[in-house]
Amino acid sequence: MRKAYIDAIGMYVPENVVTNQDLEKLMDTSDDWIRERSGIQERHHVDGECTTDLALKASEEALEKAGMQAEEVEHIIFSTMASDYFAPGGGPMMTRRLGIPGTPALDIRMACSGFLYGLSVSKAFIESGAYNNILLITSEVQSVALDFTTAGRDTAVLFGDGAAATVIKATDEDRGLLSVKTHSDGRYAEDLMLRTPSTLDNPFLTKELLDKGYGNVVMNGRTVFKHAVTKFPQVIAEALEAAGVEKSEVKLVVPHQANLRITEAVANRLDLEMHSVVYSNIHKYGNTTSASIPIALFEAMQEGKINRGDTIVVASFGAGFTWGASVMRW
Ligand code: ACO
Repeated sequence: MRKAYIDAIGMYVPENVVTNQDLEKLMDTSDDWIRERSGIQERHHVDGECTTDLALKASEEALEKAGMQAEEVEHIIFSTMASDYFAPGGGPMMTRRLGIPGTPALDIRMACSGFLYGLSVSKAFIESGAYNNILLITSEVQSVALDFTTAGRDTAVLFGDGAAATVIKATDEDRGLLSVKTHSDGRYAEDLMLRTPSTLDNPFLTKELLDKGYGNVVMNGRTVFKHAVTKFPQVIAEALEAAGVEKSEVKLVVPHQANLRITEAVANRLDLEMHSVVYSNIHKYGNTTSASIPIALFEAMQEGKINRGDTIVVASFGAGFTWGASVMRW
């Protein structure tokens, strides 16, 4: 049966590194607090770059690794929480940046679960025969929507900027995406959101709304934590069952890099040995929203932790709430 598989990944993070010590100078926080609560030591923030600047660098690397010219891309899927313009989205902008006008492009706004939803659509597009390859881009510039005063410290210390691009191709071999399961629940929208610009407000965007902090990401951390540690294991179990794969067959779990404490709690609930089976690189990048899973996959491959034939699980939880998991044979 025709399957979709990940052929190549590229990644890019801005050069500007922001350490916990740098944040101590902006707000009442400490390196100890941030490390203990989240595992984060540093993150990268843009210094004048826009979302498609990051996306372009990641895409160029992915295409080179896949041995493809941009002209060969049949469909773009673009996931971000902060596109260059509010509209149009990043997908059409990438046809311009890559010099491939006319290429179909789809935007996804599913926050931290953007990569999982991108995999879900890619799997359907490829298995149906509609396309032979997809360039799934996840590019996030969060630093522009964070409050770097003490009032915003619970959220501002967690997020970083970064991008990844994943080339997904068709194959008849016994490999690729075995299952993808996704969910959403809008009852918790206000527990993690970026409100403005908003049609709930009339006018759509004013200085007063921005002064109220509506242009910043706000989060009810405890609610997010509680739901994340429940939903991650549930959806991983669901994806394993759909794929017909036993937990013991899984070589590596690559979760969305939200917070090391969430990752450890998930590992405990899954009864997996932390550090050997569950991958984490959050100490270097913070939470890069939908880019975090493919960036982690990229680095796990580079470290030799993912090899051809391995059974890999990826899983996400984030704003919406949205969550998902996929089982893949590499
Ligand atoms: N530095 C220092 N102190 C801080 C900071 C900070 N950056 N942020 C909050 N505090 C203070 C609080 O004001 C509070 O002070 P108080 O006791 O005087 O009132 C104290 O630290 C404890 O605050 P809590 O909110 O109880 O801290 P908690 O242990 O719950 O940790 C955290 C907060 C890290 C946000 C936690 O709730 C969490 O991990 N939630 C999950 C959120 C998450 O990972 N979000 C990522 C985005 S969503 C996603 O990707 C899944």
